[in-house]
Amino acid sequence: MIVLGIETSCDETAAAVVAGDRRIMSDVVLSQIEEHRPYGGVVPEIAARSHLDHLDRLISQALKDAQCGWEALHGIAATAGPGLIGGVLVGLTTAKAIAMVRDLPLVAVNHLEGHALTARLTDGIEFPYLLLLVSGGHCQLVAAEGVGRYRHYGGTVDDAVGEAFDKTAALLRLGYPGGPAVEAAAQHGDPDRFALPRPMAGRPGCDFSFSGLKTAVRHAVAALPDGKTGTDDAADLAAAFQEAVADVLADRAVNAIARFREEFPAGTHLVVAGGVAANARIRTVLAGVVAAQGLRFVAPPAMLCTDNAAMIAWAGLERLRLGLTDGLEFAARPRWPLDESPARPDGAP
Ligand code: KG4
Ligand code: ZN
Repeated sequence: MIVLGIETSCDETAAAVVAGDRRIMSDVVLSQIEEHRPYGGVVPEIAARSHLDHLDRLISQALKDAQCGWEALHGIAATAGPGLIGGVLVGLTTAKAIAMVRDLPLVAVNHLEGHALTARLTDGIEFPYLLLLVSGGHCQLVAAEGVGRYRHYGGTVDDAVGEAFDKTAALLRLGYPGGPAVEAAAQHGDPDRFALPRPMAGRPGCDFSFSGLKTAVRHAVAALPDGKTGTDDAADLAAAFQEAVADVLADRAVNAIARFREEFPAGTHLVVAGGVAANARIRTVLAGVVAAQGLRFVAPPAMLCTDNAAMIAWAGLERLRLGLTDGLEFAARPRWPLDESPARPDGAP
């Protein structure tokens, strides 16, 4: 089975072709970073127009790289939400047009399910597994029981973790996009010079909070001479921030692992996914605690943690195999929680 995937929910325009034997036949990603950089963040209208300008060419490129024609495809998968609605509409409408003209089944993919299933594409992980999803818009711990079947353990009560990275980078004047900039600066920093809080750590449950951490960084910057960061200050604060985030994620993961083991004794893995999972320090800290709790830790390669279309093609392929296709009337969704998939394989609502 071969599926073309399309991803346009944020600031990456992407197309990929993936085969059922877990082969990524092509994976094309065009980042819009330069177009948004002057504004210090993603401008939804610019993003939507840029997706429209480039998507057709990227789809042709993905088919060419995969050395496959339209007739080789068994389905078209596109992100149908959650995300910036203009961009989602561009990708989903393009997918619908292809599905109609080529008489192929359409799969409307939840972007979060794309991230959630990536470890099955890269590492062939079996259900059930515990998933820590850490991206620009999301931070949650979920038990993945099957395709379309997720049990929510906890989420953020305020900022998403990637958002906290991006805001901290702005405070430290490290530039945009924030996550990779904080990680690069932290490499030269002393994580112990500034004492930052670990919000929620030590509390029961699996929820997160990051806005207090971001505020603590702001206060630390204000307390510096002139209220400005020099290069060393920024590096030290970036390192302290990254360490605090890693500690909080680890603390929450330990609680989630305890619950997961009770509810799913057969489960063996904790999988991390989403853009923040590209962070090497966070991966190292998580790998340590997960191993200490007796589970195996899996993190997809960084390129497949940040937004891409291979994960959308794969999620589409998994749904297609189960007969879970969508009609051309499927409407794009700006909000779409992971535990509310459109159709469940077991027929439950
Ligand atoms: O999954 P993703 O590409 O897009 C969303 O679906 O949100 O995640 C993007 C987020 C951004 O907030 C970005 O700053 C963060 O992931 N990120 C990182 C790193 N690379 C990307 N955060 C920390 N360290 C990184 N190396
Ligand atoms: Zn994402």
